[in-house]
Amino acid sequence: MKVINSVKEMQVEAVSLKLKGLRIGFVPTMGYLHEGHLTLLKRARLENDIVILSVFVNPIQFGPNEDYATYPRDFSRDRALAEAEAVDYMFFPSVEEMYPHPLTVKAIVLERTNVLCGKSRPGHFDGVATVITKLFNIVMPTRAYFGKKDAQQVAVIEGLIADFNFPVELVSVDIVREHDGLAKSSRNVHLLPQERQEAPILYKSLLAAKSAIEAGERTPEPITNLVKDMISHHSSGVIDYVEIYSYPQLLPVTQLIGKVIIAIAVKFTNVRLIDNLMLEIQ
Ligand code: PAJ
Repeated sequence: MKVINSVKEMQVEAVSLKLKGLRIGFVPTMGYLHEGHLTLLKRARLENDIVILSVFVNPIQFGPNEDYATYPRDFSRDRALAEAEAVDYMFFPSVEEMYPHPLTVKAIVLERTNVLCGKSRPGHFDGVATVITKLFNIVMPTRAYFGKKDAQQVAVIEGLIADFNFPVELVSVDIVREHDGLAKSSRNVHLLPQERQEAPILYKSLLAAKSAIEAGERTPEPITNLVKDMISHHSSGVIDYVEIYSYPQLLPVTQLIGKVIIAIAVKFTNVRLIDNLMLEIQ
């Protein structure tokens, strides 16, 4: 596996791979790799000739009071894990390399962002869309792999690819969970021991919502109330949101019908967790 720090060098490699007609599978991450990231890498390995992983904690997608400084980082561990997944290139640029001067142009996300994490984290998806635009131009992927854990991010990137005409196929991959149902996340290490015990209630509440819908409930409020009650009774976390939208449009629904997402965000002492369930309702 080749580790590349320079934008120019990565671009030169990508061009030469493209000229050889090789398919590039790209997995963008912020590192501190876990099973969720590794699942994206495995899928990329299966479907492409070359796999490129990027590890870059992107400062412009963090708000001023968010966890940019404390976001977990471990380059050697990431390198070893990537090597074990037969990654061909690990693109690991510095902040100065990616943002050598203040941006003169950035991507602004106009739709799908006034709800959920877009609402709680103003500017977050502009930062994501901007770095993904840069990474697509640097890595030139045939396919790019994203996790459904960040379902709003998938919806935003779908819009970015369509509107900016990137010749990239987006592949979205199911959420990978711990044995007790907690969605894997680099941030889980920041849960206090008691909070780690409580955290599986997020997924349990989503499963209870699913059961209620399967039993015939078709109105959103009773479902969101059920989820909120379960989380507030069984955890010390503070609910940021529990909401249901159409997917991928992320528009409010009055009836639970068609493709919908139930999305939750809960704040614990040092970490904000998100989870979601997507359902296709007849
Ligand atoms: P990061 O949080 O490191 O996640 C990288 C990719 O891994 C994302 O597509 C995310 O959805 C996926 N992922 C994380 N946890 C997962 C899980 N439990 N199951 C399945 N997939 C999971 O998302 C980002 O980084 C950044 O916003 C990025 C796209 C790299 C732009 O900076």
